[in-house]
Amino acid sequence: MGAAENRRREGGGATTAVSLVSTEGAVDLGATQVITWTYGGELPGKEIRVQRGDVLKVDLSNRLKVPTTIHWHGIALRNDMDGVPNLTQSEIPAGGRFTYEFTVPDAGTYWFHPHVGTQLDTGLYAPLIVEDPEDGGDYDTELVVVLDDWLDGLGRSPADVLADLRTNGMTMEHTGMPGMSMPQSDLLGGDVGDVVYPHMLANGRTANAPHTFATKPGQRVRLRLINAGSDTAFRVGVPDVRMTVTHTDGFPVVPVEAETVLLGMGERIDATITVPSSTTALLAVAEGRGAYAQVIIQSGRPVDPTTSDAAATQLTTLPALTVRDIEAAESVRLPDKAPDITHTLTLEGPGDKYDWTINGRTYDPNDGLPIQPGQRVRLRLENSSEMFHPMHLHGHTFQVVDKGRPGARKDTVIVLPDQTLEVDFDADNPGQWLTHCHNVYHGETGMMTVMSYEA
Ligand code: C2O
Ligand code: CU
Repeated sequence: MGAAENRRREGGGATTAVSLVSTEGAVDLGATQVITWTYGGELPGKEIRVQRGDVLKVDLSNRLKVPTTIHWHGIALRNDMDGVPNLTQSEIPAGGRFTYEFTVPDAGTYWFHPHVGTQLDTGLYAPLIVEDPEDGGDYDTELVVVLDDWLDGLGRSPADVLADLRTNGMTMEHTGMPGMSMPQSDLLGGDVGDVVYPHMLANGRTANAPHTFATKPGQRVRLRLINAGSDTAFRVGVPDVRMTVTHTDGFPVVPVEAETVLLGMGERIDATITVPSSTTALLAVAEGRGAYAQVIIQSGRPVDPTTSDAAATQLTTLPALTVRDIEAAESVRLPDKAPDITHTLTLEGPGDKYDWTINGRTYDPNDGLPIQPGQRVRLRLENSSEMFHPMHLHGHTFQVVDKGRPGARKDTVIVLPDQTLEVDFDADNPGQWLTHCHNVYHGETGMMTVMSYEA
């Protein structure tokens, strides 16, 4: 099973066994019912919770009519359990089964989803929470919030959307008319996305029929925010309540106060809040799209959920905390070291056929970026397009290079249009690892590459 996995097993953690089913069925979003794909008929899928150092054993039974896999987003796991078809495993056929079994080395907020086609844009997603017995966080209770942009089961499937984008390009997708421009966001430095979504969801619910979290005034709540969207960045906040951000992508940061936080697709943020004395809402505004999702934080009398409309508009005028405002906690900083190798990834698109590329090429599993075990690797992410790209690395947690201070440890980071952002990681987990844009329509049309190294 490999030396890196053997080292992870030395802690002698317990084994947590979970059975999962990927299945088609009806889901109630609040505003509407849809037929979609989920894990176990629930949206989001039921959370998996383990302790750091444990072995997670998940038996997946695929009851879909199509093949699938599971990717354990953000986990530095053994490569053969990473869920990338034709790279780390073969697809699990319709009616087939597969057992994922791996050690979970780091605490934090993670999630899982398929890595086949546009399946990420269905209901196939769920949280994976890894607790650390020594985390000692300053909170009474937790609220996990999974955000999503939703279109499946309402006439056009994610596969239809991709086919449309390929045929007609982005402008048609947005306006139905050639030559009209797409919505823009200052915070995202350009286009907000490529796809029109009828609904925004928090914990599987539309804003008019939200999930309610029952709590008490004065409670300290650890929010675990997960953006499971495919094409939407969310700006999240609780009106008049300060958040103390404590972790990004699972890893601790120097605690920092924020009024709102920005999450690109695939990113997670943990933040602590103190519950106010009257009922309020955690609002997740789809950045630049004039829509939002919410979770009601009920500490007093119930409220009519539509009263959040004004607060959601107000939220977009507040400052948003981004990766540039975050420093890694001392305990998780990478040791100072000059990079042994630097790879530049120029991010471009969309071409005529809606191709998104890295260094001018679409994804080819046989053609990646060479690295060697033990190297400190620097990725220079150079965005030459007009849209932001949340760039994700499998199997490692990089550190954002920020002049003069230790940037956040992350596995997914937004690269803005015309921005160049550098991240460093240590090649300490041999295998074949994807790095790609977590916009599923960008990744699927080519914005992915692979880094391989053997022990
Ligand atoms: Cu969450 Cu390769 O993805
Ligand atoms: Cu992208």
